[in-house]
Amino acid sequence: MNFELTTLSVAEIDSDVEVIIVVDNDTKHRFVQDRKLLKKAGFSAGQDETCLLIEKDRLYVGAEVLESRAIRTAAAAAIKALQSTKYKSIKVATYTNKGCTYTLRGMIEGFMLGAYTFETYKSKKKKNPIKHISVSLDEYSELEIDIGKASEAIHKAQITADATNFTRDIVNTTPDDCYPEVMATIAEGMAENTGLTCEVLKPKELRKEKMETLLAVARASRHTPRVIHLAHKPKNPKCVVTLVGKGLTYDSGGLSLKPADFMVTMKADKSGGSAVMGIMRAVAELDLPIEVHGFVGAVENMIGGDAYKPDDVLVAKNGKTIEIRNTDAEGRLVLADTLCYAQQEVKADYLFDFATLTGACVVGVGHYTSGIMGNSEEMKTLVVKEAKSAGELATALDFNPYLKKTIKSEIADVCNISNTRYGGAITAGQFLSEFIDEKHTDKWAHIDIAGPAFVEHAWGENPFGASGAGVRLMVRLIENLACSEQKH
Ligand code: BES
Ligand code: ZN
Ligand code: ZN
Repeated sequence: MNFELTTLSVAEIDSDVEVIIVVDNDTKHRFVQDRKLLKKAGFSAGQDETCLLIEKDRLYVGAEVLESRAIRTAAAAAIKALQSTKYKSIKVATYTNKGCTYTLRGMIEGFMLGAYTFETYKSKKKKNPIKHISVSLDEYSELEIDIGKASEAIHKAQITADATNFTRDIVNTTPDDCYPEVMATIAEGMAENTGLTCEVLKPKELRKEKMETLLAVARASRHTPRVIHLAHKPKNPKCVVTLVGKGLTYDSGGLSLKPADFMVTMKADKSGGSAVMGIMRAVAELDLPIEVHGFVGAVENMIGGDAYKPDDVLVAKNGKTIEIRNTDAEGRLVLADTLCYAQQEVKADYLFDFATLTGACVVGVGHYTSGIMGNSEEMKTLVVKEAKSAGELATALDFNPYLKKTIKSEIADVCNISNTRYGGAITAGQFLSEFIDEKHTDKWAHIDIAGPAFVEHAWGENPFGASGAGVRLMVRLIENLACSEQKH
């Protein structure tokens, strides 16, 4: 899909179909030329509601407000509505929130994210037919829009959406086709294309680094684990950001085997690691003036005679002992060692981890929202704020000392599960906090993406399957650090 920005008015552009966003039900706006027909068709301009007037070659879509969040999902709905048509090109006007081109960025992201299909395993491919989108600088509120700023917004949108779709592709790939070694190969290929550095630790190096908990989780799989370290190192960086991702290429639950219904979709347990890879790709392509490191713990959690067991006690990289009471709480074990390794390798100003860590997070906040945890109010607030402005949903889940006590162990330093069913997202986050060193205590936020990472019923800009949760949120956050951070 390519984009062209033009000073021509929409009417002057030669395209197959025009997309018109009806904002706040304002059907009297000059862009709405088919008021009577729309009324006849029963179009009420609700958010993401579409109406294709095939004989006019016009598609109308509703947006409740002129904000990037609403314009993004409206654009996604519009392009999805064209999925089965023969149209190849679109023309559309510019919609901005009082001249701020972030709304334009939202629209482009919406088109690209909404057009995404994953067809690797389909014999007949049904790719979205739209190849070309012309964006007219004719603005909804007749504001003068700087062409340079507008084209920068489109460029950034393309990078962010491509990175999100890259993450979606990795997550959607089946566990038999995407195991730790494959994840490492994808990371290496991406690094070569974008100029990132990429180092891959294999079992021998992992043993040398004393990452015994990660190795224990991986032990029963025929696919050996990898830890991937990607880095973007510009000259004179404004600050240093470390990202860590849970990359469980499959989570069967291990000996604490998941029930059949709960095992389906566990190919998506690599969503955190895949998001880290997508974010790194965007950071490199945007060439942000921030040093960013991405670490992925890529492991498969399986069963077998060699499997790690409930009742085992494992020693993490930082020397803490962990009593295993459930092998399905494996993500926190993989993250424990990967977080320790990441902090040993890089002293960061910001440390974020991404993980499909707990079903409890989905129960608590629903399928659409990520849970944000950590020791620092400031960090949690920052992540929640950036998520919102990037069009992702996130909410803070606060730690407390009572829940912390529930992961105490009688025989080891800490237990890998809590002694209560309740507050499972938070107790998992508090388990991870045991592996954050003093230097990073207030620099860390844990992002549980278990809900939004995998979409079983399409919503917003997300079709069925992987959503790429975390990518837009973190690209936005790092971009803003680039604008606001003082040089260190
Ligand atoms: N990968 C799962 C969490 C998950 C569940 C992600 C549903 C996405 C959708 C994780 O490894 C897990 O199994 N967690 C257990 C923890 C429990 C044993 C304490 C869970 O949430 O049930
Ligand atoms: Zn699990
Ligand atoms: Zn898992």
